Amino acid sequence: MASGTSVNGTSIGNGASMNGHHGFSIERLQGLVQRGRVHSSIYTDPAIFELEMTQIFYRSWVYIGHASEVAAPGDFRLRTIGRQPVILVRGNDGVVRVLMNRCRHRGAVVCETESGREKVFRCWFHGWTYDNTGKLLSVTAPEGYGEDFSVEEHSLTPAPRVEMYRDFVFASLSPQGPALVDYLARATSMIDLLVDASPHRQIDVSAGCHKTVYNGNWKLVGMDGYHPNFVHASVIAMWQRKADSGMGATHRSDPFDGKAATYVRDLGNGHAMLDLRQHRLDHYPDYAKFLASTPGGKEYMEAMFARDDEERARTLLAIAGDPHVGVYPNMQLIHNQIRIINPISPTQTEVIMFPVLLKGVSPEINALRLRQHESFYGPASSGSPDDGEIFERVQRGMLAQVEPWIDISRGLSREFVDSDGSIVANVTDEVPQRAQMRQWLALMTGENSSSAAAA
Ligand code: FES
Ligand SMILES: [Fe+2]
Repeated sequence: MASGTSVNGTSIGNGASMNGHHGFSIERLQGLVQRGRVHSSIYTDPAIFELEMTQIFYRSWVYIGHASEVAAPGDFRLRTIGRQPVILVRGNDGVVRVLMNRCRHRGAVVCETESGREKVFRCWFHGWTYDNTGKLLSVTAPEGYGEDFSVEEHSLTPAPRVEMYRDFVFASLSPQGPALVDYLARATSMIDLLVDASPHRQIDVSAGCHKTVYNGNWKLVGMDGYHPNFVHASVIAMWQRKADSGMGATHRSDPFDGKAATYVRDLGNGHAMLDLRQHRLDHYPDYAKFLASTPGGKEYMEAMFARDDEERARTLLAIAGDPHVGVYPNMQLIHNQIRIINPISPTQTEVIMFPVLLKGVSPEINALRLRQHESFYGPASSGSPDDGEIFERVQRGMLAQVEPWIDISRGLSREFVDSDGSIVANVTDEVPQRAQMRQWLALMTGENSSSAAAA
């Protein structure tokens, strides 16, 4: 085997050559991601999926949850990193941890309940008991263990690295790698757009979540400004009618018609956004009028203008906590939600959506945020189910493999590098798809993203 990582007999690494029938050399992976197109096997091949788990989900920073979900000591939430079960938990010492959900005895999950508040986790298999910091408190019938058995050495295993950015908790299963802020890079200021929309600069993610599973690949989700007028045609028409009648001031013309001042932005490291800032600012007066008519809206605006300079306050209000950013590989901040993307198999994906409340605004404004979220993303909503349906149609279509390439070239001829170094084009262009595929290739081959082949 060539030097590098071994995954189920798959060899990759420095100049690795083919390693048997299922091997992926760097050259082969590079051949799958070409200028303006990708090979559809990356969405369908189980061996590629296995490699994604190891090279992407078990190495890079993965979003786990928000600290406000585990606000009190003992609060916990079950999450996954790729397929590996973890517990996001705040210990009695106040520290937020990400612990592998695996008993140190014979490997059973020690927590089966999705969320709650516990002082201890007691394994069902033989009763080993851990406290909420992960420390093993006791084993049952301890006389069966010799003197060389150390309770102290059998605590629940923490994820090798855990860091927070503004209470967004990320973990990495790799002991080495860039610090979280360096990995997030330009995406930090987009996360700020959400958090700073709160007059207290704090968000609350404890309102709950809902989950949806679709039969399609995880890489299909989100960051596409080309589809809304087709997949969501009926709801956009409805918004337009409401706007025309003066009832729909929150929906400010069509940002996806290709003519609005809306852009896509490649932020580096696979992070990308639909940059709606200018468009929302253009429609700020209408939005401010709407906000002023909502209980607590005037106070909200006053608090923001008192806190920040005029340009910043206006931007934060206009964006309304919607940076529309995807943080690679598994988190997206879209509309009023934080979204986690969990790959289950090459052809199945779970999406968990957490509506976000802003601390320091009126209950009416937060209620409106929840209603807007339910309206487009809820189980019986007008938007999200259509997205799941189209992803499944893509997955079915990709079974036809005589011509196996997927085109992601839109906007290549008109994209440009902005003053901050990000790549920008029209909102309907496939800059985010190319950004994500560039990072995909860099992580899959273990090479630095800046040296990976251009997607
Ligand atoms: S597997 Fe947990 S106590 Fe035995
Ligand atoms: Fe959509």
